[in-house]
Amino acid sequence: MPPITGKARPAEVVSLSGGKSANLGLTTRMRRNRQTEWSRRLVRENALTTDDLIWPLFICEGKNTREPIASMPGIERLSVDQIVREAERAMKLKIPALALFPNTPKELRDETGSEALKEDNLVGRALRAIKKEFPEIGLVADVALDPYTSHGHDGVMKDGVILNDESVALLVDQARVLAACGADVVAPSDMMDGRIGAIRAGLDAANFADVQILSYAAKYASAFYGPFRDAVGSNATLKGDKRTYQMDPANSGEALREVALDIEEGADMVMVKPGLPYLDILWRVKEAFGMPTFAYQVSGEYAMIEGAARNGWLDGDKAMMESLLAFKRAGADAVLTYFAPRVAEKLGKQ
Ligand code: PBG
Repeated sequence: MPPITGKARPAEVVSLSGGKSANLGLTTRMRRNRQTEWSRRLVRENALTTDDLIWPLFICEGKNTREPIASMPGIERLSVDQIVREAERAMKLKIPALALFPNTPKELRDETGSEALKEDNLVGRALRAIKKEFPEIGLVADVALDPYTSHGHDGVMKDGVILNDESVALLVDQARVLAACGADVVAPSDMMDGRIGAIRAGLDAANFADVQILSYAAKYASAFYGPFRDAVGSNATLKGDKRTYQMDPANSGEALREVALDIEEGADMVMVKPGLPYLDILWRVKEAFGMPTFAYQVSGEYAMIEGAARNGWLDGDKAMMESLLAFKRAGADAVLTYFAPRVAEKLGKQ
């Protein structure tokens, strides 16, 4: 702790009510540095830049299609041709990377999520289409089976149990397919044990040694994913909850063990998710490992800010910027956020 130097100098203390002077005689006045904008800029400790943004996008079937998502006002599912237009917008705004999520048609969902292994599924087509037109933008693809399974879980299920090792085998195949379609980064969001090591080995064996792994290392079983599940259409199908594989919101030491394992197994970057309710975890992870550490400002966090803003209950732009700056202060190197294009536009104008 720094020494406390703001005490009144005893000799100069005077009565504020009846005395001659109202000067407290403080040596340190914290407000001096806050008086003017130039001074506030000089003493500012953290900054959010466009370099910190990853923009998650939802893909749907169709052509020239944009479907609004009721629980995420302002966000739409986009057909592949429209995703490419958003990639162009991201390029112009200098957003470094996109993260892609599919809304798989119901009839293509099955028990084992077999659609995940097809190179011409929605994500595969979007990856190829974006890579062809804008090879410089980073493409992050989620590795998990939930947008593809009829039961909405991230792995395969037998008698109500999510099987770990059987799921990992499929996730390795999914990661390889994503890499073959042009994903620069695969992001396992499934929380099965041992998947990072298995995916690394699988990618290396298939000549994808340069494909990066962004591990959803500390991912909690959270209510804040609700709107996302609407967006990818897994809310209607999800049987039960994900508490046997995603983390208990009550735990934080366990998050460090999860992250340590993923680093050991070969993760290039680690993620904490959700974002704002878990800033303590973000801080501990960054402090403990010094890894490239990302945060996901998830769908429910977006919905809270945007919903309140649209009702006139808070200043949406200010709340958006403040929430994202909070991630930087807590140690995030980058943030996945649905606000990415709006933030980039705002930062570009400053
Ligand atoms: C799927 C996945 C989820 C999110 C990202 N990947 C949902 C879940 O685990 O149920 C949530 C993202 C968000 O809420 O914005 N494995």
